[in-house]
Amino acid sequence: MTHYALFKKYPGLENKLLRAELGNWPTPLQPLERLTAHLGGPAVYIKRDDLSSSIYGGNKARKLELILAKANRKGCREIITAGGLGSHHILATAALGSRAGYRVRGLFFCQPVTDHVKKNLLLDQYFGTEMHFVKDYFGLVRGYLWHYFSGLAFGKKPLLLMPGGSNRLTTIGYVNCLLEIADQLAGLEQPIPDALFTAAGTGGTAAGLLAGLQLENRLTLTNLHAVRVVQPEILSKKRICKMAAASLKLLASLEWQIVPLQASALDQRLILEDGYLGEGYGFSSDKTREACQLFKELEGIELEACYTAKAAAALIDYCRRERGRRGLVIFVNTAAHPSCYNGIDLPEPAALPEAFRWCFSDTPRNCHCGLQKQNYPFCSAVSRPGWRWAD
Ligand SMILES: Cc1ncc(COP(=O)(O)O)c(C=O)c1O
Repeated sequence: MTHYALFKKYPGLENKLLRAELGNWPTPLQPLERLTAHLGGPAVYIKRDDLSSSIYGGNKARKLELILAKANRKGCREIITAGGLGSHHILATAALGSRAGYRVRGLFFCQPVTDHVKKNLLLDQYFGTEMHFVKDYFGLVRGYLWHYFSGLAFGKKPLLLMPGGSNRLTTIGYVNCLLEIADQLAGLEQPIPDALFTAAGTGGTAAGLLAGLQLENRLTLTNLHAVRVVQPEILSKKRICKMAAASLKLLASLEWQIVPLQASALDQRLILEDGYLGEGYGFSSDKTREACQLFKELEGIELEACYTAKAAAALIDYCRRERGRRGLVIFVNTAAHPSCYNGIDLPEPAALPEAFRWCFSDTPRNCHCGLQKQNYPFCSAVSRPGWRWAD
């Protein structure tokens, strides 16, 4: 009997949708009773995608199951991908990909350097990532081209994966997550959530949940709150709906019971929360610091500043607005559980390629990255009076 909710609902998909087995499905759905009592509003539940894999959990395991199956089918043994310095996507690709025998080249652009970011860089090194610092978005494009074509020139056939790993195929991983949630809710006294909250970077996680809501007729009253952690040029409501529609179309091409929908038909149940980005990608705010503190002190759950703290801050505000009302809201915890660092002897910073060592020194690197217009140039921001890094 399959544990994959999508295959339980549509058995015909099992032979058509190839998947590498990486995760522990379904991830638990648990009540957060102390947080609920503290906020005094709807019951808060957490979808524990932080526990999706014992090697490296979080939202990437769901995407990578589909990516690695594709890489295998195409005969690729090397993956080129990119992200910020603390990228969970590069790290997950390296951690889960290297286990499956793939070589991973990571292209890293700048972001605020927190302790979490530093730890991730050391883990990247530990998992054998070939690490390249590309500084900004222009460097990223150059890096992709250079590494892809030089890979081809050496007869390697690399698989190119965009930052965040979101596309119509990987989005299906989160369609499956939504169906898991619906199955898990079936036994509860109050089985219909008013809202799901997730962080949204490249939007694939939100798009999958949104597409899943269309397939699940038990959750027709549920809205999805996608909490933006990047600037509007990178993520819009339209982009999420387009990705959800493309994913439904792909599923419909494999399974006759699934009806494709236009992107415009999907946007009514999507709320893109704009108010939590703060100074920009990777920066904390008072709200995210409060979210981290409440989750840690009341529930023992550690959030990270870049993504999950922003989604949690939006959920906390929602519950405060709904104070005194019964109901149910679900927080999708998309970051890997901190136990992924346990038992690992992290390498010393000196083991990293030279281009990354500045992250561990107190001297800011004087680079002006392409994010300058939307955010402050991260590296020189260290010297600005009154600046705080995300913590
Ligand atoms: C911890 C965490 N949560 C959420 C996201 C956002 O996922 P998506 O890019 O699918 O929007 C990311 C993306 O890197 C992430 O690392």
